[in-house]
Amino acid sequence: MKEPLKPQHTPMNDIDDWEDHLLERYPDPEVSQKKKEEFRNYVDSDRLDTVKQFYRLNHTFQTYDFVCKKEEEFLKFNRREMSIWDAVTFLNTLVDDSDPDIDLDQLQHLLQTSEAIRADGHPDWFVLTGFLHDMGKVLCLFGEPQWAVVGDTFPVGCQFSDQIVYHEFFKENPDYTNQKYNHKYGIYSKNCGLNNVKMSWGHDEYLYQITKDFLPEPALYMIRYHSFYAQHREGAYSHLMNAHDHEMFEWVKKFNPYDLYSKAPIKPDAKALRPYYEGLVSKYLPEKLKF
Ligand SMILES: [Fe+2]
Ligand SMILES: [Fe+2]
Repeated sequence: MKEPLKPQHTPMNDIDDWEDHLLERYPDPEVSQKKKEEFRNYVDSDRLDTVKQFYRLNHTFQTYDFVCKKEEEFLKFNRREMSIWDAVTFLNTLVDDSDPDIDLDQLQHLLQTSEAIRADGHPDWFVLTGFLHDMGKVLCLFGEPQWAVVGDTFPVGCQFSDQIVYHEFFKENPDYTNQKYNHKYGIYSKNCGLNNVKMSWGHDEYLYQITKDFLPEPALYMIRYHSFYAQHREGAYSHLMNAHDHEMFEWVKKFNPYDLYSKAPIKPDAKALRPYYEGLVSKYLPEKLKF
């Protein structure tokens, strides 16, 4: 008999196991075949099972109503007021001790992403976006389960695309049989624009809502849609996007390789880099942000 799914269940040892799984799905085109195979051997272990279990929970419980409930709960921003550096310190209490290859904590992932962007000579707001993009994961520290913080994001309120990883698990989602939602456009209309489309709830949407008044529009698109793989990699939801979304998605696509492929065993020197990032943060963001 199948074990009943419990929403509070957190199958992955670490929330970053999801990102390792992404790397397997979308391997770095510049990494050699041998390296890819070595990596696969590592992911193929028990972790694949826990990631699969994680997706089952995500796809079962991310309904239209669930997203409305989370927006209501979190978009009041009445939990904490923090400077970005406080938020980083807070986020760093989520430490990954399960990764045998590289010992990376959250700050290091952010710095590796942003430093890779900086090394390529991109504008400072793009560098800042790399540095900020996963701050929404503080949701975990507010007691939210993994499936409501990380994972691929997708529109709710319309048909779930079969381009979404483990799409078969959507059969367990109540919206799958709800006639209001279970057709191509659902409650939306052709090319209505993503701003009118509700996405599954997680760290992307949360951080977008926190930063939306302060950053240039391409930065906001990168933050809001960086886990929307079904679109930025597979193009599965173009029918909901307008011309402006398509233009902005060029930035989302530009950002994605920095997020996925900037992991390296050499740790960035967080202490030495801090003054530069403090300057960048104060150029664009208020001293404290509401979470
Ligand atoms: Fe992310
Ligand atoms: Fe990331």
